[in-house]
Amino acid sequence: MAETPRLRHSFLVRLTHWFITFSFLALLVSGLELVVSHPRFYWGETGNVNTSPLFQIPIPSSRKMVPTGYGYVLPDQNGWSRYLHFQSAWVLVLTGLLYVAAGFFNGHFRRNLLPALSDVSPKRLARSVAQHLRFTRPSAEETWSYNLLQRLAYLLVIFVLFPMIIWTGLAMSPSFVSAFPAAVNLLGGQQSARTLHFFLTWALVLFLLIHVFMVFLAGFRNRMRAMITGRAAEPLERV
Ligand code: HEM
Repeated sequence: MAETPRLRHSFLVRLTHWFITFSFLALLVSGLELVVSHPRFYWGETGNVNTSPLFQIPIPSSRKMVPTGYGYVLPDQNGWSRYLHFQSAWVLVLTGLLYVAAGFFNGHFRRNLLPALSDVSPKRLARSVAQHLRFTRPSAEETWSYNLLQRLAYLLVIFVLFPMIIWTGLAMSPSFVSAFPAAVNLLGGQQSARTLHFFLTWALVLFLLIHVFMVFLAGFRNRMRAMITGRAAEPLERV
């Protein structure tokens, strides 16, 4: 009988990974359009063109009444960008819930993402950071597992950054907030939620850039083949 080939990534991990990646990219493009319609950020509950902003992005706006210092107004793309933003957000939330529920249920997080307690020491962490800073190629024993820094980065993204960006997004929804006012009150108001949402986006963009760079460093073709088909060459050498 033919042996079933060993998979590096399960079907569910691969499917949810690519759904989340594409919905995140759609959220980025549409979110950028939403920022262009009001590139000023405030803190607290209220903020508008009559109040002073916490900070302002030096770009022109697609709304005439927003003071930007530019003598022209960009075309208004608010319609499609809002629809795309909310639709992609729901795709991401539902796919994320499926990934997280399955990850707990089938032991994926415990087996593959949670580092061993003995590995989480300042010394090992410093060694892992140093290896990354030297752009050291992953060793053969990493063929079937993630390294320490990779595990910690994934856990941060899955259990801190994504929950926070979803929470701050929901805190800007009037219907959600009228049902759960604490969601916005705990953040200090609607405008604080928007500002935090913006910074969390940048944290995720930074993760994405480093993540893709590390995939290149580890061997783009082989790592991508494993994330698409599930199968990896043994060891996962640079090909
Ligand atoms: C916002 C977008 C993205 C997020 C949040 C994300 C997150 C993740 C996470 C959490 C994992 C581990 C999955 C698990 O085992 O449960 C992973 C693995 C992986 N991702 Fe992404 N990813 C994103 C975008 C991308 C992109 C754009 C690429 C490629 C161009 C990519 C390529 C990969 C590959 C190849 C792996 C497997 C790494 C390995 O085997 O060492 N990801 N990603």
